[in-house]
Amino acid sequence: MSWIGHGELMEKAEILPQEVKEALDQAAELVTGNLPGFRGGFPKAYSENGFYEAGENVDWTTGFWTGEVWLAYEHTGKMELLQAGKQQMESFLQRITEKRDVETHDLGFLYSPSCVAGYKLTKSDVGHKAALMAAKELTGRFHEKGEFIQAWGPLGTRENYRLIIDCLLNLPLLYWAAEETGEERYRQVADKHIHTALSHVIREDFSTWHTFFFDWETGAPDHGATCQGYRDGSAWSRGQAWGVYGLAIGYRYTRCQEYIKAFEGVTAYFLSHLPEDLVPFWDLEFGDGDDQPRDSSAASIAACGMLEMSKYLDRAQAEYYQGIAKRLMKALTEKYAVKDPAVSNGLVLHSTYSNHSPFNTCNHYGVDECNLWGDYFYMEALTRLYKDWQMYW
Ligand code: GLY
Repeated sequence: MSWIGHGELMEKAEILPQEVKEALDQAAELVTGNLPGFRGGFPKAYSENGFYEAGENVDWTTGFWTGEVWLAYEHTGKMELLQAGKQQMESFLQRITEKRDVETHDLGFLYSPSCVAGYKLTKSDVGHKAALMAAKELTGRFHEKGEFIQAWGPLGTRENYRLIIDCLLNLPLLYWAAEETGEERYRQVADKHIHTALSHVIREDFSTWHTFFFDWETGAPDHGATCQGYRDGSAWSRGQAWGVYGLAIGYRYTRCQEYIKAFEGVTAYFLSHLPEDLVPFWDLEFGDGDDQPRDSSAASIAACGMLEMSKYLDRAQAEYYQGIAKRLMKALTEKYAVKDPAVSNGLVLHSTYSNHSPFNTCNHYGVDECNLWGDYFYMEALTRLYKDWQMYW
């Protein structure tokens, strides 16, 4: 396998402003066109043979569909998108009120791009109420002993006593709740979790663990392990991308200087393991010449992280990361984005949800398909390039 050199990466073309607009126009049009197929419901987490089926408001991914609707609404102002966003927030309020499928740390993924976004855009009381209830629920997964938010499974069980890198994106819900309510507990939980997570998931070479276990009785750090990566010592591409974006968001809310260095290291590791076309394989272990599926969602997530972090860096550094993000988005818009609704009812092809290997513990689904977060973060990255965007996170 081989990866692109830094010099070659810098020679790649950046997406131009007109191309950003065209790609965003196209994505918004596809989302609007796909609305009737999901009315009253939500797409499932990933497509099958390029097409999402309609499902209910379950799983950790439905908030991304509402997020796509809000981004399309911001871009076009179309009333049908506003109506759909409002209707979906009602569904999220019902879900958290009934506590349906909310035993997970993924409440931030669910409620930030749907209800926090809807509140920020429309001042919706429904969105505000639902998001605050979700934030409260999320704090219930915090373990005082290990100072972390437990990712999956029943609380406190030995086999589930771990955090995962993805959770960095669940924390903005808590920071938002702290700002809205003035209750410091939300911020304290988020600050402690970030500190614990970043102390353990980042390895010496700035590759990252997907998950990290703590001692069930004492809360002491125990060991790293992958779930969705290829093997324990490798770097799962999307996990590394969650790290890039999670560090940028962590810096935004804490202004902790150490997170800048960690961001630089984690991002450099990601960039030095990209193949020639800049869209990573599902695990950074793989490069050109490997017969493995891609995870295009990791490119969009990392681009969002670089664009967010560039707000806090000096001009030269900011331009460097913005330039890289523009190169990743050029690659995605040209070769991965859906342009014809007959091909797919998603937005970005060639993503991977969960690829089983002989060395990991995950199930096998959504491989080389579209997925809702891949579609959402693609639109978010384009929106960030198109205008000064008030983020949903
Ligand atoms: N947060 C779950 C995933 O990235 O697959």
